[in-house]
Amino acid sequence: MKKHIVVLPGDGIGTEVSEAAKKVLEAAAEEFDHTFTFEEQAIGGTAIDRYGSPLPDETVAACKNADAVLLGAVGGPKWDQNPSHLRPEKGLLGIRKELNLFANLRPVQGFSNLLHASPLKREVVENSDLLIVRELTGGLYFGTPSERRDGGNSVVDTLAYSRHEIERIVKRAFEAASVRRKHVTSVDKANVLESSKLWREIVEEVSKDYPEVTVEHMLVDAAAMKLITSPSQFDVIVTENMFGDILSDEASVLTGSLGMLPSASLNDSGFGLYEPVHGSAPDIAGEGKANPLAAILSAAMMLKHSFGMNEEAQRIESAVSEALEQGYHTADLDLPGGQQVNTERMTETVIDLLKANT
Ligand code: NAI
Ligand code: MG
Repeated sequence: MKKHIVVLPGDGIGTEVSEAAKKVLEAAAEEFDHTFTFEEQAIGGTAIDRYGSPLPDETVAACKNADAVLLGAVGGPKWDQNPSHLRPEKGLLGIRKELNLFANLRPVQGFSNLLHASPLKREVVENSDLLIVRELTGGLYFGTPSERRDGGNSVVDTLAYSRHEIERIVKRAFEAASVRRKHVTSVDKANVLESSKLWREIVEEVSKDYPEVTVEHMLVDAAAMKLITSPSQFDVIVTENMFGDILSDEASVLTGSLGMLPSASLNDSGFGLYEPVHGSAPDIAGEGKANPLAAILSAAMMLKHSFGMNEEAQRIESAVSEALEQGYHTADLDLPGGQQVNTERMTETVIDLLKANT
């Protein structure tokens, strides 16, 4: 298959880990006889410096013409004092909106030899393998009005959702669950919020189309607790934008490092942007210390979700587990007895194992 991939390296370690993921995609293409072409475009602080905008028109146009987008990360202290329209995050929010990427999938998997890397007890983390499906373009982060009133002495934010917006994300979750362990936990605050009551009704309606999937409703406060006391009880979690934001950061504790967590952001037609969950890590940028695995696992998600290349994706995931099992790891993971390597060496190890297995 021929596929055209736009790469948005962004800032800090974004450039390092997106380069690593690109190399792994190239290796997978070679092994499986695909042709992937790559086009690099600017986003975030780098785009501000070069073009005076965190999201240049050319970048948006290129993404719209691509088969999929791979993103590193944006941001850094250099731009922290910029006015809001010249902030790197504007680029990220902007591209999600431009491409209508409403479904954010964040798989959280405890790799067996990383169990001790989590601050949680081994028996708690063991067997945890869950997928957070977060609504990404609605809710509190986008609702209007969102403003100060009474000369700054009162304030309003708006949590708004339409039936359509809830239905499409909930369907995504049931579809994902039907090819996993067939359990959906819908997280809301239906004892208080009107929006959560509609959310719950729609989950019930949609669940009728997926009789093989069991469904459970959980209040967000209880979910926050259970996520770290009994994570293995979850399969797919579906929730609105802000709850998903908070719960997915909480869930990252299970894997021991932010550098292990991939994500996919998808629109209605399956088009997707793939990025590690972590940021630009200015504290280690340029030092070759970044863990490339979150970005590499995001590339695997691209193959699976955008290109239907399940076997190829599986090969990358296996190569990642095998590299960890052999003890290779970057500095963010503390693996006693293992071999600590830099970003480049970690990437090469994954590529070698990918090729060895094919
Ligand atoms: P961060 O995720 O960049 O870093 C948090 C900590 O985790 C740091 O100590 C960092 O060194 C470490 N870390 C993160 N990814 C790693 C990796 N792959 N390998 C090894 N260590 C890793 O979050 P932070 O420090 O809060 O934000 C830094 C910048 O990144 C800010 O400008 C922030 O706005 C931006 N950011 C961007 C995101 C994105 O582009 N999606 C997401 C989160 C933050
Ligand atoms: Mg967050």
